[in-house]
Amino acid sequence: MARRFEGEKLLVASHNAGKVREIGELLAPYGIETVSAADLDLPAPEETESTFEGNARIKAHAAAKASGLPALSDDSGFSVAALDGAPGVYAADWAETPQGRDFGMAMQRVWDECEAKSAPEPRTAAFHCCLCLAWPDGHDEIFMGTVSGSITWPPRGALGFGYDPMFVRAGETRTFGEISAQEKHADSHRARAFALLVDAVFKGDEA
Ligand code: IMP
Repeated sequence: MARRFEGEKLLVASHNAGKVREIGELLAPYGIETVSAADLDLPAPEETESTFEGNARIKAHAAAKASGLPALSDDSGFSVAALDGAPGVYAADWAETPQGRDFGMAMQRVWDECEAKSAPEPRTAAFHCCLCLAWPDGHDEIFMGTVSGSITWPPRGALGFGYDPMFVRAGETRTFGEISAQEKHADSHRARAFALLVDAVFKGDEA
């Protein structure tokens, strides 16, 4: 049995305004007030682990300890089977340039590395999301969500972010860059992880 969230205030352990907004919206129906790590001026810890779970734990525990509040983190990424799961937890790193993040460059690298290996098509891939809810006493609960599909080239669509324009969910023809946020969130790695979290931790005890 997961530990239930009994408080009214939750710290969202992220400095990413988009993630913070989405998490706040997802939790609003449960009467939970959210405050972000950026609001409290908490430092962003270094993500030194090699797994989504490890990095989600680092972020949530650091924020819970610093604030004295239960803290929720989101660590996510993109894995391509032909690249043995890369970029994986390094999805954001593949986009780093001295001028900021460039996901056009990161997507090009993914496709080029598949081409260099003559990887057969369809080239399967998945987005992963790990949520960690940590309490100041050190207890935590982990929830994972994955959505599977394949990559396509050239990238299509200006919606979404990150690797969305090169990812096609299984059973779809449009990329994540071509579908609305509403459609994406009806079935995405993040939506799946949130459904598990809400069921286990936030929902009432009614049958
Ligand atoms: P994090 O902020 O360290 O968790 O990095 C997550 C990275 O994974 C993002 O910067 C994106 O590159 C990628 N990513 C995660 N979720 C998505 C998504 O829904 N669409 C596109 N890219 C994503």
